[in-house]
Amino acid sequence: MSRDRIREQTTRNYNKLLGVEIKGIGSYLPEKVLKNSDLEKMMDTSDEWITSRTGIKARHVASDEQATSDLGAEAALNAINDAGLIPEDIDLIILATATPDHFISASASIIQHKIKAGECACYDIAAGCSGFVYGIVIGAQYVQNGKFDNVLVIGSETLSRFLNWDDRNSAVLFGDGAGAVVLSKSSDPKRGFLNFCITSNPDGGEHLTLPAGGSACFTSAETVNSKKHTVHMNGKEVFKFATTWGTNVAAALVEGSLEGINDGISYFIPHQANERINLSICKRLNLDSNKMLSNIATTGNTSSASIPLVMDQEIKKGTFKKGDSLLAVGFGAGLTAAGFIYRF
Ligand code: UT7
Repeated sequence: MSRDRIREQTTRNYNKLLGVEIKGIGSYLPEKVLKNSDLEKMMDTSDEWITSRTGIKARHVASDEQATSDLGAEAALNAINDAGLIPEDIDLIILATATPDHFISASASIIQHKIKAGECACYDIAAGCSGFVYGIVIGAQYVQNGKFDNVLVIGSETLSRFLNWDDRNSAVLFGDGAGAVVLSKSSDPKRGFLNFCITSNPDGGEHLTLPAGGSACFTSAETVNSKKHTVHMNGKEVFKFATTWGTNVAAALVEGSLEGINDGISYFIPHQANERINLSICKRLNLDSNKMLSNIATTGNTSSASIPLVMDQEIKKGTFKKGDSLLAVGFGAGLTAAGFIYRF
């Protein structure tokens, strides 16, 4: 991989989005919880295997009536309320998702309708589990350059709809949920996004796909029978990608912004795919793993929703103090990787 390209970005991007802050944050998890003990009754697996290999104990699952836009709308309203705004104040809605309601139209537009936002710009982005970080980087630039005052960035997923429940390799890993932030100009110019990086590996995309239903492999009886409309993952290859690219993005962000990792970084929120991946990234970075914040045990892998879900839970707990620096890193289908450092 080209580490130089990532370093170039973090050198160029340093300080560029400082002054754009998270004005409000919210999340939503569906009521239904599926524990590892429930999965033991559905397939040949065990709580011991899932816990020791991934750190996951349970995940939330959307009800039959809930689509990705419903979860996203709940999180969005919570974030708008937290920001002290109303839906009409939103100028742009960016939804990061791998599991949209439909191909046509964008689920961001469906959320716009559901939350009763006014006329505003709406679009979806597909950057896998890095999608929320990509959305932040895109949305924050509109705020920074003065084009929009309030940008809503949402990560929302109903992965349970797209799993092959006969495939224990993937079905035990994922969960449903949504997280959202409102980005606005801060009155404190020292607060906000200190640095950011978005990238994608030109190779390896075939290791994490949903093969059928698109223009390359249109839906047919055969694709349904062979479950090509569900998530297919080569776990070992994605694991290798996640640990190397996750580490390299994080290291470049720190090198491009701060004096040292343990002095400079107060907290680390990696994408919640596997606790072992995240501990490996900490080790490779020489980052104290006590600084890592995680909710994988109770949510599983919620793809683009995982980082804002952890952020919201920790903000509500009062974890972050003024001046703290949060490092967030995502990695996933594409294969994409992305990160930011946010100063509270
Ligand atoms: O969000 C996008 C990014 N996604 C990720 O980052 C996921 C990355 N990959 C991973 O987290 C890990 O590779 C997995 C958790 C998916 C798998 O862990 P692993 O340690 O790589 O396991 P493995 O695939 O090497 O499987 C080891 C054994 C196999 O049995 P054999 O062939 O050694 O007899 C599997 O069949 O574990 C078996 N196995 C299971 N056993 C019980 C696989 N899944 C299960 C299961 N329950 N659910």
